[in-house]
Amino acid sequence: MKGLVKEKLPKHLAIIMDGNGRWARQKSLSRIEGHIKGIQSVRTVVTTCRELGIEFLTLYAFSIENWRRPVNEVSALMGLLQRYLRKELDKMLENNIRLRAIGDINSLPPDAHDTLIDTVEKTAHCDGMVLTLALSYSGRDEIIRAFRRLVADIKNKRIHPEEISEETLSNYLSTKDIPDPDLLIRTSGEYRISNFLLWEMAYTEIYVTETLWPEFGKEDLIKALLNYQSRERRFGLTSEQLAMEPD
Ligand code: IPE
Ligand code: IPE
Ligand code: MG
Repeated sequence: MKGLVKEKLPKHLAIIMDGNGRWARQKSLSRIEGHIKGIQSVRTVVTTCRELGIEFLTLYAFSIENWRRPVNEVSALMGLLQRYLRKELDKMLENNIRLRAIGDINSLPPDAHDTLIDTVEKTAHCDGMVLTLALSYSGRDEIIRAFRRLVADIKNKRIHPEEISEETLSNYLSTKDIPDPDLLIRTSGEYRISNFLLWEMAYTEIYVTETLWPEFGKEDLIKALLNYQSRERRFGLTSEQLAMEPD
């Protein structure tokens, strides 16, 4: 697609979908209408990533901090989540998309929680793309929960402190089966990570666009991917060293 090199696509794309409220304000609409419009962008991005052959797509849909928003906004978002999952299930199955969730999903309202689990189970056999929704998610909370499990395993002698490596900690996170993101896109011009995949983003390329999430479409995604493909990921090495490495 228009200059994209298939071999150089990110294996894992993560997105902070931001700007629904500002989009709505610009149009004199309610914040909730901004979230409704934002779902269209979710559909476009999921479909495009699947078409392109991106293997892992992770969307930051709701943070732990977002629980502190007005009650009516929170409950509208939970309702939208449930409706989105119900509506998209057939399409996910048709397109071989496996849904996963990360975050403190037990704190979701029961209806949304059950629909989520149901969708995760029904798509568990799909292997075309892994779509991960970060819900009630906080990177620090994730790390703390990983630590709790790790400390418990140290106590019952399943692991020795000297054996702990980066890989060990990665394996205690709920992202353990997912490679680290290669590219993070954040919409709405905010230059921050907002407690997203803190551990996993150690070497992620970051792309910020001024476009607000409800207006983020296929062209914007392609533009971000082209920008990513033009970068040199050095991982601490020099350009000369990279030039000598076999691909
Ligand atoms: C992102 O849009 C959606 C969620 C965080 C759930 P916002 O609702 O944060 O939009 P702004 O930042 O207020 O424009
Ligand atoms: C980050 O957006 C969380 C999601 C996109 C779900 P926020 O709008 O909550 O982030 P801040 O508050 O601007 O950092
Ligand atoms: Mg925001």
